[in-house]
Amino acid sequence: MAAGITFLVFCSLLAAVAHSQSGDSAVMQDLKKALNPPSQLGWTDPDPCNWKNVQCTRDGRVTRIQIGHQSLAGTLPVNLNKLTSLQVFEVQGNQLTGSLPSFSGLNSLQSILLSNNNFTSIPPDFFDGLTSLTDVYLDYNPFNSWTIPDSLKSVPTLRTFSATSANISGPIPEFFGSDTFSSLATLHLAFNYLEGPLPATLGSSIQSLWLNGQMSRSRLNGSIDVLQNMTGLTEVWLHGNAFSGPLPDFTQLVGLQNLSLRDNGLTGPVPDSLVGLTSLRVVNLTNNMLQGKTPEFSRSVQVDMRADSNSFCLPDPGVECDSRVTSLLNVDQNLGYPSTFAESWKGNDPCTGSWKGITCNNGNITVVNFHGMGLTGTISPSFSQITSLQRLVLSNNNLTGTIPNELTTLPNLVQLDVSNNQIYGKVPLFRSNVLVITAGNLNIGKDAPPPTSGGGKGNTPGSSSGSSGSGNSSGKKSSTGVVVGSVVGGVCALVCAGVLVFCLNRTKRKRSGRVQSPHTMVIHPRHSGSEDAVKITIAGSSVNGGTSETYSHGSSGPSDLHIVEAGNMVISIQVLRNVTDNFSEKNILGRGGFGTVYKGELHDGTKIAVKRMESGVMSEKGLDEFKSEIAVLTKVRHRHLVALLGYCLDGNERLLVYEYMPQGTLSRFLFNWKEEGIKPLEWTKRLTVALDVARGVEYLHGLAQQSFIHRDLKPSNILLGDDMRAKVADFGLVRLAPDGKASIATKLAGTFGYLAPEYAVTGRVSTKIDVFSFGVILMEMITGRKALDENQPDDSQHLVPWFRRMLINKDTFRKAIDPTLELDEETLASVSTVAELAGHCSAREPYQRPDMGHAVNVLSSLAELWKPSEPSDPEDIYGIDYDMTLPQAVKKWQALEGMSGIDGSSSYIGSSDNTQTSIPTRPSGFADSFTSADGR
Ligand SMILES: *[C@@H]1O[C@H](CO)[C@@H](O)[C@H](O)[C@H]1NC(C)=O
Ligand SMILES: *[C@@H]1O[C@H](CO)[C@@H](O)[C@H](O)[C@H]1NC(C)=O
Ligand SMILES: *[C@@H]1O[C@H](CO)[C@@H](O)[C@H](O)[C@H]1NC(C)=O
Ligand SMILES: *[C@@H]1O[C@H](CO)[C@@H](O)[C@H](O)[C@H]1NC(C)=O
Ligand SMILES: *[C@@H]1O[C@H](CO)[C@@H](O)[C@H](O)[C@H]1NC(C)=O
Ligand SMILES: *[C@@H]1O[C@H](CO)[C@@H](O)[C@H](O)[C@H]1NC(C)=O
Repeated sequence: MAAGITFLVFCSLLAAVAHSQSGDSAVMQDLKKALNPPSQLGWTDPDPCNWKNVQCTRDGRVTRIQIGHQSLAGTLPVNLNKLTSLQVFEVQGNQLTGSLPSFSGLNSLQSILLSNNNFTSIPPDFFDGLTSLTDVYLDYNPFNSWTIPDSLKSVPTLRTFSATSANISGPIPEFFGSDTFSSLATLHLAFNYLEGPLPATLGSSIQSLWLNGQMSRSRLNGSIDVLQNMTGLTEVWLHGNAFSGPLPDFTQLVGLQNLSLRDNGLTGPVPDSLVGLTSLRVVNLTNNMLQGKTPEFSRSVQVDMRADSNSFCLPDPGVECDSRVTSLLNVDQNLGYPSTFAESWKGNDPCTGSWKGITCNNGNITVVNFHGMGLTGTISPSFSQITSLQRLVLSNNNLTGTIPNELTTLPNLVQLDVSNNQIYGKVPLFRSNVLVITAGNLNIGKDAPPPTSGGGKGNTPGSSSGSSGSGNSSGKKSSTGVVVGSVVGGVCALVCAGVLVFCLNRTKRKRSGRVQSPHTMVIHPRHSGSEDAVKITIAGSSVNGGTSETYSHGSSGPSDLHIVEAGNMVISIQVLRNVTDNFSEKNILGRGGFGTVYKGELHDGTKIAVKRMESGVMSEKGLDEFKSEIAVLTKVRHRHLVALLGYCLDGNERLLVYEYMPQGTLSRFLFNWKEEGIKPLEWTKRLTVALDVARGVEYLHGLAQQSFIHRDLKPSNILLGDDMRAKVADFGLVRLAPDGKASIATKLAGTFGYLAPEYAVTGRVSTKIDVFSFGVILMEMITGRKALDENQPDDSQHLVPWFRRMLINKDTFRKAIDPTLELDEETLASVSTVAELAGHCSAREPYQRPDMGHAVNVLSSLAELWKPSEPSDPEDIYGIDYDMTLPQAVKKWQALEGMSGIDGSSSYIGSSDNTQTSIPTRPSGFADSFTSADGR
């Protein structure tokens, strides 16, 4: 017996000796040395298998290291992956630093807990060959930015992947689906820098999904439709992202208990399938743009959903919306509940005047005008529920499907305009007095859906149920869309990103080489005897790529445009000297507070306006302002905004090149027509100008995710072309509005007489100050009087209060109208409507003023009686010729800009320090001076 015990002791001694010499022991000694463990861990025994929190197999292989929360510091040794029997490795809640070693090849490892340390990086091969791994926790480590490596796919057994606040960037990989990970139950990736959409592959095995609080600029976005198929979910945290579109059907998510969707951009009604979910315990929908009735959840559900933090029609849960609201939401469903409506359609009365696209008469919806709103989806048969509808304008969108037969039942319809969409099929038979406009739909009249429409995204009319098509144009996949998209996208990249490199190639170019690369346009200046080509290269995708100003002064023939710069449109001083005849007196268009504006003429006769700052005037602030104006103007492009064609910074010279507006300012035609010997504008032209301005400013306000505020709208900043169509000029005062479009305190700018009261008093800026100024401009157009006219008696010097007094009754109102206007009954009605709008826009309180979109609606329904012609032939617009002259190209871009919403321009950072305060007595702004030479 004693011998037996002795033998056993001997054996275990032998084993101890054996494995103390083995690799595991050496690695463990390294680990000990690296971590410097406190004595209470007792890592003093020569045999690591006797250490606390370490377990070994009987033959002395280390299987578990569980040293979480031990106040350990240090760096893990690189040879850790020699512990090939290791199953569990836990070091969470220490202060370990440095790079994680590779764990590759630890094919017994099941569980890794590394959370709450100070690890700084994770090697790319970290997951290679971890074929038994089930649970990984990497949360709360200050890793260098990393993306989830593809090698994670080699871990099919994965159950938990938890990496909250681990500095992960990029998209969520497609492989988190059942195909790769049939057992994945927990996916926690909150507070990282993830971006892009939810992959459609996310698997039904996932129970707990945390993707909240991404800190990347674009955050996670797109639709959350994929949740619909994730039937295993019990807990979903998507809050604090940029998800959009409607909530999916929750019918199959029978285990869902906790749903947090707050702080996103979700739209559409809360589906009954969610409200009726019996498993639900906690739901948070605050701060979205959810629509329809406020949902009434069961009392067992803890609900966080302040009604006013969404776009619900009424605050009381469960109360149905007004029937007009319900009809409009039915219509909205076929459009995928775009955020443009969800943002603006608030409350229970579509006739307040602030509902985008909606015009009413005595509480009945009479006009629905969705012209050019970038809508996708189909035309809802539910329009037929709006029986008061007279005009339905859906032109210039990307709508598909057919015109529903139901629309023929609308008793008051006089006009249906679906022009410039992708509508197909037979046009139903309307009453003979209904004007139906279908131009610009390639497949209209053809029975079959267009063969090019591969996506088939929208619902066909009649089937208004089902998962509605995505409202985001990103969801579109029709092949025409792609072709058009890539051409437009190319031009858009060119125009929007402003990453232009104009450079002159003295090298001869073969005429046959039309397109040098998808992103290169070759443009011939058409002047005699020169082979020179101006090449415009669109440099990839870098936006705001610094301002490396590299001027190459090469050959300097008369036509040289020799411009090299990443990030902007630079034109050399030599070119500008040439085209302005060395800034000759005779080319001066005018002088403003900052310098002189010259007319320039390119070789083919195209005119430009060159604004040259006086060098002495150029303080540092002036330079800031200059840069700010460039930054804004290169991003902000629209048919009704004056385009910046280029600029020049050369020594002390600061020059901006604009398109030339031959008819000069609106002031000339309103106030100075006698002196200038020109005809005052007739009413229809004024109306068109007002609409143009409203569209330009609406665009400024709604630009991408950000909002630009003009701050100095006035007739001298409104310029006219030969067609008497208007563009808004002078963005020197534009300043970036903060996210969320709230007002910002800022230095006072603008011109007295046009200033909104709250701006004049507190200096606080919101888009509503432009609305106010616009109201004043409308009053000026109606009366022919200036905002501030010192030649008038004291009590009527200020236009706004005077106008309000005159508006009180019909007789005084008639007296207030500009005597040069011919007033027949129709015109008078139109003037009255605009007067009402003017009063509304210049309401005392900012919140009482409508959005510019409302002004556009009102004015467009008036102007449409005269049909201001919008060039809207899509063939012409998209048929881009790569062999264009520079001026031709410029014209094309301008035409395009009116059509394509320019997004992705959020990289603009307003940094100007504007101090320009125009004094009423002096001609203000540069734009004042863009007038034609004939006028001066
Ligand atoms: C990580 O390091 C920082 C600074 O080096 C320190 O303030 C912080 O407490 C550390 N965190 C942990 C979990 O040890
Ligand atoms: C994320 O990674 C970037 C780049 O590696 C680094 O500059 C940044 O400090 C990291 N952020 C955090 C929170 O660790
Ligand atoms: C859900 O699954 C069905 C059937 O597999 C599929 O047709 C549908 O596209 C999926 N929906 C989403 C939103 O992924
Ligand atoms: C819901 O979201 C709001 C807004 O972010 C937050 O203040 C609130 O605590 C959340 N409620 C719950 C129950 O999570
Ligand atoms: C509004 O529409 C209703 C129903 O069509 C009609 O009875 C009513 O007269 C309309 N109101 C006005 C002012 O046209
Ligand atoms: C239609 O879609 C394409 C590509 O998505 C876009 O470029 C174009 O501007 C859209 N057209 C209209 C009229 O919105």
